[in-house]
Amino acid sequence: MPHESALPSDTPLVVVAIDGPAASGKSSTAHWVAERLGYRHVDSGALYRTLTLLASQEAGPAEEWTEARLLALAERVRLAPIPGGFEPLIDDAPAGDGIRGIEVTRAVSRVAQMPAIREWVNARVRLAARGNAVVVDGRDIGTVVFPDAPLKVFLVADPWERARRRLVQRLERRPSDDEIAEETERLVQRDAKDATQTVQAKDAILLDTTYLTQAEQVDRIVALARALERVGHDRGQAGRGTDA
Ligand code: CDP
Repeated sequence: MPHESALPSDTPLVVVAIDGPAASGKSSTAHWVAERLGYRHVDSGALYRTLTLLASQEAGPAEEWTEARLLALAERVRLAPIPGGFEPLIDDAPAGDGIRGIEVTRAVSRVAQMPAIREWVNARVRLAARGNAVVVDGRDIGTVVFPDAPLKVFLVADPWERARRRLVQRLERRPSDDEIAEETERLVQRDAKDATQTVQAKDAILLDTTYLTQAEQVDRIVALARALERVGHDRGQAGRGTDA
């Protein structure tokens, strides 16, 4: 990992960037990877979702949302530190599970396409990461937000499997094939809307999780991060050897 002493204090110590399409398991994977490594988890999608929730409460129908109106609403949204990560707040109160609801999910891509909103989210994410070792998940973390991250992972999975997992999470039961087919359709549509910003960095490791369990995908990323930590540590040792 980088030489911490050489970094200015407003730079993150270490970034593990996890990107990928809708419901590829980024957030839950990032959460567990962060916990295992003792890093903090920053969920960039949660900011887009929180602003979308606030807009749906206060800015009328989604077709009428303007960038200026959303940017004004964004002043009421922030990330607050909690153990292991950050929690999105609206007017200093937790935004809650409503950010994962179907209406927010339907409208969020519209918000995420506004350049000023993307800049706002990126600034908030960088602020949260300042001085921390972090696992950050999103769509453009390895390309735009932290292009110098030492470890970048791009998670993909078959759309049917992604839809099945998302439904199991939401319904807490086994979904029917018809339900999975409907959800697959919604995911594929959202993938299309998010396509411009969902970019695999050239130096990202592609991880197809279709046939992996959650635990296996977490294990793989933790192993990659630890391997990098060892390289950083060995380099640090070698550096000290030469100086002495
Ligand atoms: O539901 P899923 O886990 O796929 O998405 P999320 O990470 O909660 O992100 C919700 C939405 O925010 C996405 O559909 C994108 O429109 C947007 N997003 C983005 O554009 N860039 C990011 N870095 C993160 C999320």
